[in-house]
Amino acid sequence: MKLLAIESSCDETSAAVLHDTDVLSNVISSQLIHTKYGGVIPELASRAHTENISHVVQQALTEAGCAIQDIDAIGVTTQPGLAGALLVGTNFAKGLALKYNLPCVPVNHIEGHLFSGSLENPDLQFPYIVLVVSGGHTSLFHVRSFNDYSILGSTRDDAAGEAFDKTAKMLGLGYPGGPLIDKLAKQGNAKVIQFPRAMIHDAHYEFSFSGMKTAVRNYINTHHLTGIPEHAMPDICASLQQAIVDVLVSKTIRAAQEYPCNGIVIAGGVSANSCLRNCMQQEAEKRDVLFVAPRITYSLDNAAMIGFVAINKLQEAGVNTFQQLDFEVNSQAMRMHRHGSR
Ligand code: KG4
Ligand code: ZN
Repeated sequence: MKLLAIESSCDETSAAVLHDTDVLSNVISSQLIHTKYGGVIPELASRAHTENISHVVQQALTEAGCAIQDIDAIGVTTQPGLAGALLVGTNFAKGLALKYNLPCVPVNHIEGHLFSGSLENPDLQFPYIVLVVSGGHTSLFHVRSFNDYSILGSTRDDAAGEAFDKTAKMLGLGYPGGPLIDKLAKQGNAKVIQFPRAMIHDAHYEFSFSGMKTAVRNYINTHHLTGIPEHAMPDICASLQQAIVDVLVSKTIRAAQEYPCNGIVIAGGVSANSCLRNCMQQEAEKRDVLFVAPRITYSLDNAAMIGFVAINKLQEAGVNTFQQLDFEVNSQAMRMHRHGSR
């Protein structure tokens, strides 16, 4: 089976072609227009998706060496995300499905991230723990099969990616802040400043990152009221990155010890962070737990992970289940204690 997948939930327009679970192409067009505003502007995101989507889909088909007539099914992200952005991808998918009489599988974006570890790692066996950590989400999941998983905890306020982006803005760095902090932190000493590690010792799996902005602001006001000298920046970045990473690693490792677990997966944009990858790897190795960090293109928002979920759903439920095109988009994120059902 050849499946065309479309992802447009936030600021990446992406299309992929899969042959069963093999990824033949995975085209990602990142919207640079948001950079100058220091965050994603929903209206601009929808407009950019509308402009980009046809050539991104065409490029995915070309790179996969096939035409739309070779496609057997479509998969598309329908939730959660920016409503206007989701509508662009969903309606494009519905249009293609109508014209070419194809089944169309609605996919939850978070499920895409949840199973991105299985995309290229046949060694990874259920059950496993997944940390989904991006600009919009910070949640820990216990994943028992493709249709059985539960949220152990989520952030109560800002996502970890937001903590990176908002503190980077305060430090006068650009957007998105995560990669810039990651880069500067490499030359810094993480032990110089003790930023807070909110709720790190609490027994639950919830997170809170909104205090990081106040902590950084207080630090700047106390030590660098007239401006941060360039030489101070690496230590600040390394220290605040370590504070965020310590909380993420500590809770993920604890979940891996408390629940039946054959592996730990990190997914979402922040999983690109080199300190997070290194620290999680070390702590997992110490406990002899398999650690999987999908390659960066499968960690960021991408259509290949959406296609992988769609193919699994099709194999499980059959093509006839996905002939109706009356599914809706839903911008709401998953709530605690909701179990997966597909
Ligand atoms: O998954 P993603 O592409 O989009 C969503 O938010 O859904 O994640 C983007 C987030 C941004 O907050 C960005 O700063 C963060 O991922 N990010 C990083 C790194 N690369 C991207 N954060 C820390 N270190 C990085 N290397
Ligand atoms: Zn995402």
